[in-house]
Amino acid sequence: MRKKAYMICFILILIVCAALVIGGCGVRQAMPPSGDDKNDAVEASGGGENVVDAQDTDQEKKPADSEKPSDSSGSAGTDEKPAASAPDKNEGPSKGSDRSILGIPDAIDIRAEDDGNLLVIVNKYHAVSKDYKPKNLVTIDNRYGTWENMEMKDEAYKAYKKMYKDAADLGYNLKLCSAMRSYSTQKTLYENAVKNQGRKTANIRSAYPGRSEHHTGLAIDVTSASMGWGLRQDFADYPDGQWIDDHCHEYGFIIRYPKGKTDITGYDYEPWHLRYVGVDAATYIMENHLTLEEYVEQI
Ligand code: DAL
Ligand code: ZN
Repeated sequence: MRKKAYMICFILILIVCAALVIGGCGVRQAMPPSGDDKNDAVEASGGGENVVDAQDTDQEKKPADSEKPSDSSGSAGTDEKPAASAPDKNEGPSKGSDRSILGIPDAIDIRAEDDGNLLVIVNKYHAVSKDYKPKNLVTIDNRYGTWENMEMKDEAYKAYKKMYKDAADLGYNLKLCSAMRSYSTQKTLYENAVKNQGRKTANIRSAYPGRSEHHTGLAIDVTSASMGWGLRQDFADYPDGQWIDDHCHEYGFIIRYPKGKTDITGYDYEPWHLRYVGVDAATYIMENHLTLEEYVEQI
């Protein structure tokens, strides 16, 4: 009898142990795997390329330039020579490429240093050197960006913060997805654009390295919750994009690549790409439907 009781106790203990083991695995399986899910969350919140419209060639696929100390030297990776401090005479399109405004014309000049001019033109004709570094750069607070530690010039940043606040007061949720870019980041973006869209399309959507005004620290790409944190040409069809189009000049920004001006700017319409020029210039440019090139020609 006692033997039977021992036997029953033993079987009960075995059943309890088995239940504990099975229950423990179940809990562990139900918990999210730690690292990977964090990355998924970042992507879902706007960092990943899965939310970017195919036509976007500006969107960066990794944190901003400022995260890599090597960027300040202008080095662009293993396939590039160390940056020269004087303008690089080799700066320019590879042989045989389209030299028209829709392609990559030879640069007329190459700027080596930031002279503080808010109206500086960096475009397909006016380049910057590989180690060009804007003065008075500040790190953008992470709450304003889809990436951490982006940088822009302090004057433009102050103006952006005002614009951001006024937009937020109206219920618009804006974020910057690109600001100052190094030569090496632009090189990666341009090469990806060529690979994904072909050279012809890439050349009117993405600047050749050294020819992007993102190098100046005065240009930003603005996206919003309503855009799913992507960049699309229909931005101005949404209330927040329309508000930016109507009011950005009050803060000193212009839509740098307006509709119908590709023959002057060299680029397709980019409602998200804002350029800081100061309130007076921005107001004149936007009210008179000019490009920065046309404005600078007039003054
Ligand atoms: N998308 C603009 C033209 C740039 O790459 O700077
Ligand atoms: Zn841009």
